[in-house]
Amino acid sequence: MTSAESTAIFTRSWSLYNLITEHNYMFHQEIYSGVCDLLKLRNDSGQYHLLDLGCGNARYLTPCLKQSPPSLYEGVDLSEAALAEAHGYLAGFPGPVTLTHGDLLAAIESTDKTWDVIFTGFAVHHLMAEEKARFFRAVGHCLSENGCLILVDVVREENQSRENYLEGYLKFMRENWIKVPPDQLEEACTHVQDYDYPECLSTLQEMARAAGLNAGCMISRYGQHYTLLFARSSLPEIHY
Ligand SMILES: C[S@@+](CC[C@H](N)C(=O)[O-])C[C@H]1O[C@@H](n2cnc3c(N)ncnc32)[C@H](O)[C@@H]1O
Repeated sequence: MTSAESTAIFTRSWSLYNLITEHNYMFHQEIYSGVCDLLKLRNDSGQYHLLDLGCGNARYLTPCLKQSPPSLYEGVDLSEAALAEAHGYLAGFPGPVTLTHGDLLAAIESTDKTWDVIFTGFAVHHLMAEEKARFFRAVGHCLSENGCLILVDVVREENQSRENYLEGYLKFMRENWIKVPPDQLEEACTHVQDYDYPECLSTLQEMARAAGLNAGCMISRYGQHYTLLFARSSLPEIHY
């Protein structure tokens, strides 16, 4: 499977994802409110560098950026449609903004910058397990001394198979995403069925540890939608 295949639904059009998030079917309101709080807790507002991997249209992160402005924001995504919208949402943002069309794993593995916050929302589950391990290793290489990784994503229960996870998630979609027209709901279900490869929390934690990060801290969980915070293992564990 290529990254282009797994993101085709976002590349063709961004309107279906907009519909899903406008009805808060993936808990964007609660999750991004928590992300805003996390950024506010940093003491380097106006001075930190933030890399947003799989930024989409940056719609839900933009209010957080406005409250806790980074001195540099870079968003990376494979969907030109999403990036075109991101330009709109980020218009008027005071600091330097770069929006890059590209693969998130290639971007994090090739960055020559040091990042204080690496953020990624609902994108890493598209990577295969070995690619996720590479993702964590690359984060370990380019995170600043006091930097953190904020990982928002779907996560499997411990010892739950992918098949069992998918059965539950597709049921959740079909029972709850009632304002999505049936043909679009089926398109979304097919995307999840074909391209979602979430890991268990312990697997993500193990990958983080192997990359020199701490085991992470669960900031929130809404169903299968988690917000996890990782920092360097040399830092004391963070308790929020
Ligand atoms: C579900 S959307 C999430 C958008 C936004 N981060 C959010 O939280 O609402 C996933 C985004 O990740 C992007 N994406 C997925 N895999 C990617 C990859 N390998 N490289 C770059 N972007 C990727 C998709 O194009 C899409 O815009």
